[in-house]
Amino acid sequence: MVIRKRPLNRRELARSDQDIIEVGGQQQLTVREIKVKVDLTKFVEESNFKFDRVYDCHVQNESIYLECIRPLVDATFRKLKTTCFAYGQTGSGKTFTMMGNNDAQSQSPGLYLLAAHDIFHLLKTSFSHLQLFISFYEIYCGKVYDLLNDRSLLHVREDAKGHICIVGLQETQVVQISSLMELINYGMSVRVTSFKIYM
Ligand SMILES: Nc1ncnc2c1ncn2[C@@H]1O[C@H](COP(=O)(O)OP(=O)(O)OP(=O)(O)O)[C@@H](O)[C@H]1O
Ligand SMILES: [Mg+2]
Repeated sequence: MVIRKRPLNRRELARSDQDIIEVGGQQQLTVREIKVKVDLTKFVEESNFKFDRVYDCHVQNESIYLECIRPLVDATFRKLKTTCFAYGQTGSGKTFTMMGNNDAQSQSPGLYLLAAHDIFHLLKTSFSHLQLFISFYEIYCGKVYDLLNDRSLLHVREDAKGHICIVGLQETQVVQISSLMELINYGMSVRVTSFKIYM
């Protein structure tokens, strides 16, 4: 598991919030939470965690990609099954990491785009006999929806060999980076958000 710290945002800076996370080396993370005892005196509770890799907020997406994701791309072409997903509370930096940052001052591609460059390069060179298909689904309130097929409701079943299958999940062939990124953007746009609920 890889952890990436995000910097304090504008609201937190305006409130003079304290940064309670400290990255200590490549694998160490310290959280210093301010707590209150029963007699109402404040104290700092320090917790130390160890992860496979910890990144401070100034580390670029490219560095994270090269160290953590590029080896997964290579492994996939050696027929291994690999997974990469971002998990964290709202505002923790998932979109910034996976989709990148389009700010005029600091543009940086996300992990999807960086992986796509290498995947298409490998498909055009050493692996020209392979084709790339993608599917994109959402798990929401215990149900599975196909984001590339009109949010159709899907059923997850186990086959006779004990493999989990998402029955009827659409697989779309992609032949270039721009169409892959368009599909990802489309899928993201039809996901359920707190303001948009599909019945
Ligand atoms: N490493 C970072 N460096 C600079 N800014 C960052 C970093 N990580 C996140 N941010 C900024 O923090 C804000 C929240 O990040 P982001 O939108 O990626 O969160 P999220 O996890 O996708 O949230 P949500 O679950 O609500 O979609 C954004 O303005 C983003 O630009
Ligand atoms: Mg997001």
